[in-house]
Amino acid sequence: MNIKASRRSVFEIPAPLKVVGVASGGLLTEGEALDQALKGALSQALRETGFFGEAGETLLVQRPEGAFLLFGLGKKRGQELAELKAHGGRLAQALSRLSFREAAVEVFFADHLGKKEATYALAEGLFLGSYRFSKYKTQKEGEKRLRIHLARASQAEVERAKVVAEAVNYARDLVNEPPNLLTPAELARRALALAEAVGLEAEVWDERRIEEEGMGAFLAVAKGSANPPRFIKLVYRPERPLSRVALVGKGLTFDTGGYSLKPTESMSTMKSDMAGAAAVLGAMRAIAQLKPPYEVRAYIAAGENMISGSAYRVQDILKSYSGKTIEVLNTDAEGRLTLADALAYAEKEGAETIVELSTLTGAAVVALGEKVAALFSTDPGLQRRLLRAAKEAGEKVWPMPLEEAYREKLKSEFADLKNVGDRNGGAITAALFLTEFVKVPFAHLDIAGPAYTSKPHPLGPVGGTGFGVRTLLHFLA
Ligand code: BES
Ligand code: ZN
Ligand code: ZN
Repeated sequence: MNIKASRRSVFEIPAPLKVVGVASGGLLTEGEALDQALKGALSQALRETGFFGEAGETLLVQRPEGAFLLFGLGKKRGQELAELKAHGGRLAQALSRLSFREAAVEVFFADHLGKKEATYALAEGLFLGSYRFSKYKTQKEGEKRLRIHLARASQAEVERAKVVAEAVNYARDLVNEPPNLLTPAELARRALALAEAVGLEAEVWDERRIEEEGMGAFLAVAKGSANPPRFIKLVYRPERPLSRVALVGKGLTFDTGGYSLKPTESMSTMKSDMAGAAAVLGAMRAIAQLKPPYEVRAYIAAGENMISGSAYRVQDILKSYSGKTIEVLNTDAEGRLTLADALAYAEKEGAETIVELSTLTGAAVVALGEKVAALFSTDPGLQRRLLRAAKEAGEKVWPMPLEEAYREKLKSEFADLKNVGDRNGGAITAALFLTEFVKVPFAHLDIAGPAYTSKPHPLGPVGGTGFGVRTLLHFLA
């Protein structure tokens, strides 16, 4: 989708289709003006059809002067930016079902929301809502490149929305790739290609180097797979950085559970177990373009949790990068093992703040459902800033406690730690486990719920959602 801001009104823009909003059954300002120019043809169509305009409902009015799409926005009162984004998404989907290739669109509700925010929100919604992943369909269904002219809007907002939405869609693409093709090595190649394209420093370690460096926990998880692991590092370096931030993403390109094997049902979305890594890479892509004043380093321990003669077992004891030993009591709690090494390494490289995203526990999904991510932080200020960033970004994040009383659940008979607690409070014990490997202010976002959706929504189809990218970008803005 191509979006261009125009100083002109919907009426003045010479596009074959003009889109105006209908809220609580009535036209907005641009629609009113257009209606007058058409001698009341639009209001007449509304009256005749009794069109109220529920969110996403459309009414196409064909006239000798051209085609007009009346686009439902639901009730007028109390609309927020999040709803405006959703309207943008629904509009993108409605337009993809029509044959027009070009449309002039009114920025809905600009008056009470502020024109710039409204333009940004609508553009972001349009870009996200038009996302499709049809790479592996041999029969493509009517995909066309749509040109949208946003009436009376500024191009700067459209450009910012584009950078952010492209970063989200980039993360979605990575998650949606099938696990036979997106192996750890392929993820590393994508990261290198990204770094090359947008101008970031990059480094990738192979299995031998990972072993030499002493990442024993990460290596144990990955060594059951025929697809060898990679450790990925990207660096964005501004001229005079205010501070050094590390972003760490869980990068399991597939999680079978290992010998603590997952049942078929639970395994059916596990190509998304690298969604944290995808979000971090998506954020790095936009960071290279938006150029925030912080040094940002991204770390991804990419591997695959499989079963074989070389796979790790239950009761194995691993030596982590930090030096702490870990007894494995469940091979399906693999994410925290790979993260333990990535986090300790990020800190050793000088991170002053670490934000980590992972599809870490089913327990987080039980606690907060599939739409809300769980946030754990060792630092109240960092927690506050992340919650605010998530709110601004329109991503649902809720704070959870790092309850010290549960730390004893991770005590092992034979090693410094074991990798699982008991059945209760599983998202919390997983988060507590991670804190064993970090001393600087640290935040962990468990995105197991919102990283992947099994239902289409206004801002995108079934599959990877790119969750976390926008929160990270607002956090660093
Ligand atoms: N990748 C899973 C967590 C997950 C579950 C992500 C559902 C997305 C949706 C993780 O590696 C895992 O299997 N965790 C275990 C931990 C348990 C063994 C303590 C879980 O949640 O069951
Ligand atoms: Zn697992
Ligand atoms: Zn996992």
